[in-house]
Amino acid sequence: MREFDLVVIGAGPGGYVAAIRAAQLGLKVACVEERATLGGTCLNVGCIPSKALLSSSEHWAELKHLAQHGISVGEAGFDLGAMMARKDKVVGDLTKGIAHLFKKNGVEWLAGRGTIPAPGKVQVGDETVAAKDILIATGSDPAGLPDVTIDEEVVLTSTGALALPKVPEHLVVIGAGVIGLELGQVWARLGAKVTVVEYLDRILPGADGEIAKTAQRLLQRQGLAFQLGRKASVQRTGDKAKVTLERRDTGAVETLEADAVLVAIGRRPRTAGLGLEALGLALDPRGFIAVDGQFRTSVPGILAIGDVVPGPMLAHKAEEDGVAAVEALAGHAHPAPDYALVPGVVYTAPEIASLGATEEVLKEAGTAHVVGKFQFIASGRARAMAATDGLVKVLGDAETGRILGAHVLGRNAGELIQELVLAMARGATLADVAATSHAHPGMGEAVKEACLAALGKPLHM
Ligand code: NAI
Repeated sequence: MREFDLVVIGAGPGGYVAAIRAAQLGLKVACVEERATLGGTCLNVGCIPSKALLSSSEHWAELKHLAQHGISVGEAGFDLGAMMARKDKVVGDLTKGIAHLFKKNGVEWLAGRGTIPAPGKVQVGDETVAAKDILIATGSDPAGLPDVTIDEEVVLTSTGALALPKVPEHLVVIGAGVIGLELGQVWARLGAKVTVVEYLDRILPGADGEIAKTAQRLLQRQGLAFQLGRKASVQRTGDKAKVTLERRDTGAVETLEADAVLVAIGRRPRTAGLGLEALGLALDPRGFIAVDGQFRTSVPGILAIGDVVPGPMLAHKAEEDGVAAVEALAGHAHPAPDYALVPGVVYTAPEIASLGATEEVLKEAGTAHVVGKFQFIASGRARAMAATDGLVKVLGDAETGRILGAHVLGRNAGELIQELVLAMARGATLADVAATSHAHPGMGEAVKEACLAALGKPLHM
């Protein structure tokens, strides 16, 4: 029987990064992956292909706005097949890159589905290997709607919505969360009528309310229609689907006919089929694997990270979990990751980035706080780029000035938030950020200005 110090199950951003780091720390490592390519949901059917399509569709959508720059173009068109092929190539290159990193770092890829027949053992196909430690990094699956069958042709998860062979006339998206907005925007830009149905009375639950409201207005302006406060059910009818919406306030019922329906109502930890019940491994009431600060489960020698454990279901969070888990395993001191410092980004245009507390959370907790905002309309760089939609909003402790939360809506929000992640992680105050030099003219000046505004000293607003 082959023996390893660590066997990682799952080669998504959590698992593959953990495997590489563990190998770098001198452990003999194998990583089990059943998909034909490495990289998990994120690289194969998630973060990366969606960003490829967002990028391609954004170029197409931008054509409409070129006249303001004095640019006219002749007849323009797009080839959906070529767009998809480009997306597939981006994914292919990156997943091959991980295979190369495995080779370079001496991580053995065990191809197939992994199960844990007993502590210290992992079975992959006909082979059982011995493992001093096992790390579960199996990620998550899309959540389903009761009585709705996903066929990936008409009724889709994100996987199907990333590979449609033609632009649907009417796409109904169920769930105004991250996936619904990103993929809704892709298909709206490419010409679909898109209706986003959401159970709650707002989009993006968990995001700052003011930011979510502004984002909704801007997305509506680009043609996305929202039906909030509605419960949806779906029935496939031949090559179309009937979506029934029930208003939560009045109970009134309405039906929509759709050529495609994307169900994007969240994801669930993927724990089935690993043999966890027989091991007596404890799950929490929501079905996540319960772990301690070093990602140890209730069974000695078995660890878990990423989407299968509690915390934000994000690739970069999984990655941080993985590194922390294997560094602790290899005897290196590593503090447990602080999930309050994990930024979240929705890669729509405008981008929506959030970090730490929202204004609602601070109000509810009764935390004395200050708010500073800077609208991009007042930024020279934003005006020069014609990217004036959006704002930076920072929330600070009223007494100490420490940053408690930050929310950015607009061009490059996902990059702009990063400065505030570092500031918050290092306990910097609003005054610290406001006192640092920000290159002019840059979108980053809006971060400085928002901090100045929170201190009651705005310069440009
Ligand atoms: P989500 O949790 O972001 O949003 C789901 C939405 O569906 C919520 O607004 C919820 O209120 C709504 N909903 C739930 N049940 C419903 C029902 N029966 N009818 C109507 N609406 C309903 O989940 P989503 O968009 O599926 O994404 C899944 C995960 O993937 C998330 O954890 C997200 O963080 C991650 N992800 C992250 C991305 C990024 O970081 N850019 C991109 C895509 C996904």
